[in-house]
Amino acid sequence: MSSGPPASKKPAITLDGLSGSGKSTLARRLALELQWAYLDSGAWYRALTWAVLQNQADPADSEAILSVLSQITLSCRSDGNVLVDGALIDQQLRTPEIDQAVSMVADHSDVREALNQRMRLLRDAPDILGVVADGRDAGAIIFPDAALKIFVEVDVEVRAERRYQQQLKAKLSVDYPSTLAALRVRDQRDRARGAAAPQIHPGDRVLNNESVTVEEAIRRLLSWASELSAV
Ligand code: DC
Repeated sequence: MSSGPPASKKPAITLDGLSGSGKSTLARRLALELQWAYLDSGAWYRALTWAVLQNQADPADSEAILSVLSQITLSCRSDGNVLVDGALIDQQLRTPEIDQAVSMVADHSDVREALNQRMRLLRDAPDILGVVADGRDAGAIIFPDAALKIFVEVDVEVRAERRYQQQLKAKLSVDYPSTLAALRVRDQRDRARGAAAPQIHPGDRVLNNESVTVEEAIRRLLSWASELSAV
């Protein structure tokens, strides 16, 4: 556990994990319970990717991406929804085009650093009590001085089954083996990002999110948060 942020900085709690581990659901709820701001770092990567595609820039070209980033403002509401130049674009962030391009955008280390700097500014907002951030490297890289760092663990087959059920509900034509294979590919890509890869670091609290309900998981998170002096 770190010695905490400088006095001017609001406290942060981070939840990291692989795709489909349920960390966003938990982070959003935890932020709501604590009345802190919620930062969905994956949504920031998606929003930048949306702007890159809108500008017909190449997601494989980091200079082109940085140029797009320098021309837009990115912000978010306390519910995590991201705004590009003040416009809410959350409905456009989960398309197959963005799904495909966002991994490429997230592969560039210089783009990651530039985006991290933008996300870190959120803690300077005068009207927030703290930030709950989720992602892959929220605890290790975005907010290394977070007061509480949680790693959310769920086996890949359980994550694939959950995603498959969501896709069936959304009436998408899918099958379990392809959902599992796609998730394994995403995991591999995420794990190839060196220091930014989702992994358990010393001092992390590990939440196994396989056979607990959201309510049980939230109770556990709130009990960890209650140990912090800032909460
Ligand atoms: O969690 P998500 O599926 O919305 O994330 C979108 C993409 O952004 C995914 O390719 C992983 C990447 N990402 C990242 O590299 N680092 C983060 N802190 C958050 C997301």
